[in-house]
Amino acid sequence: MQLKGKVAIVTGGGSGIGRAIGVGLAGEGASVVVADIDSNSADAVAAELEELGSYALAATVDVSKSDQVDALVEAAVERFGRLDILINNAGRAARGFVSEMPDEAWDSVISVNLRGTFLCSRAALQHMIPQRSGRIINTASGLGIRGSPGGAVYGASKAAIINFTKSLAQEVARYGITVNAIAPGVTDTPLWRGFRSDADIVEALESGRVGAPEDFVPLVIFLCSEAGGIHCGIMVDRDIYVSRGER
Ligand SMILES: NC(=O)c1ccc[n+]([C@@H]2O[C@H](COP(=O)([O-])OP(=O)(O)OC[C@H]3O[C@@H](n4cnc5c(N)ncnc54)[C@H](O)[C@@H]3O)[C@@H](O)[C@H]2O)c1
Repeated sequence: MQLKGKVAIVTGGGSGIGRAIGVGLAGEGASVVVADIDSNSADAVAAELEELGSYALAATVDVSKSDQVDALVEAAVERFGRLDILINNAGRAARGFVSEMPDEAWDSVISVNLRGTFLCSRAALQHMIPQRSGRIINTASGLGIRGSPGGAVYGASKAAIINFTKSLAQEVARYGITVNAIAPGVTDTPLWRGFRSDADIVEALESGRVGAPEDFVPLVIFLCSEAGGIHCGIMVDRDIYVSRGER
């Protein structure tokens, strides 16, 4: 129970990697706000956490909207009295060549992945800075380091998150707040499946190169713990451990 008494917000907590992180944090004793644009999935995961014996709150939020994000953080503090951990995990993807990409596809990915990370961090810091403690973990991607044809907007959003992480870490270290990023590789979630045919999914799973949503949970728990507090601004990249595979 390394996180007993801590309060966490997990954006995109209703599915995939966010759900797994929420379960992991709750398992260590944290109270968890499951924040998602999809209210049904937020409700379902919050109910799952409560069934496991944790305190949980479901919140419907679009992380790209500052008024909704501010309301999310206020709701978390009102319900649990403080805010210790922010997991910026909500994300979306679009694939397409730059020469053919509509404005809307570009804007929608940047606004959720990058603007959402900024807005949630800014709102959380209003409580973490006076409290003189906090943990922010941002979700980048291997594609934010390497790039890929058709992956310019997603990769650019994740590359920006990596630099945002390192800059913000330096801004807030003096307040006892750490900011780190994880870079999952290919992970079996609805987001990943949504861009593939059934045959592609079977082939990728058989290759053994596809990760599980739970893969990063131990690391996230560590970075949120007291012991993990010496790490600030690092970026942990899963893809250095696996071959390039289908990328
Ligand atoms: N699955 C992978 O292969 C992979 C690899 C690297 C990084 N990631 C990143 O991991 C994170 C989680 O992705 P996942 O694979 O678990 O996907 P997922 O689709 O299972 O979960 C994403 C969640 O984010 C929510 N969401 C989307 N837009 C939102 C918004 N505007 N406001 C609030 N919530 C919103 C969705 O409703 C969903 O519940 C994302 O940032 C993604 O880019 C995923």
